[in-house]
Amino acid sequence: MQAKIAQKAPYPVEVVAGQSYYWCACGQSKKQPFCDGSHQGTSFTPTKFEASETKTVYFCGCKQTKNGVLCDGSHNAL
Ligand code: FES
Ligand code: FES
Repeated sequence: MQAKIAQKAPYPVEVVAGQSYYWCACGQSKKQPFCDGSHQGTSFTPTKFEASETKTVYFCGCKQTKNGVLCDGSHNAL
């Protein structure tokens, strides 16, 4: 099963140092880029991201990144 492309662009999010975030890997969540439980019944599970500093990060929206949960530009090839 392939991840659904939520959007062909990253989601900029201001993350807070010390907080954990659960990135939607399946692409089905209605609360992108984060998991809302919609992966149930699939082989996907969310990926935990722990913010080491407070700053804006770019979560992958296309779900094709090879850089963990963060956009690596792979969406440009879709
Ligand atoms: Fe996509 Fe949970 S809804 S991983
Ligand atoms: Fe997925 Fe950029 S949005 S690699």
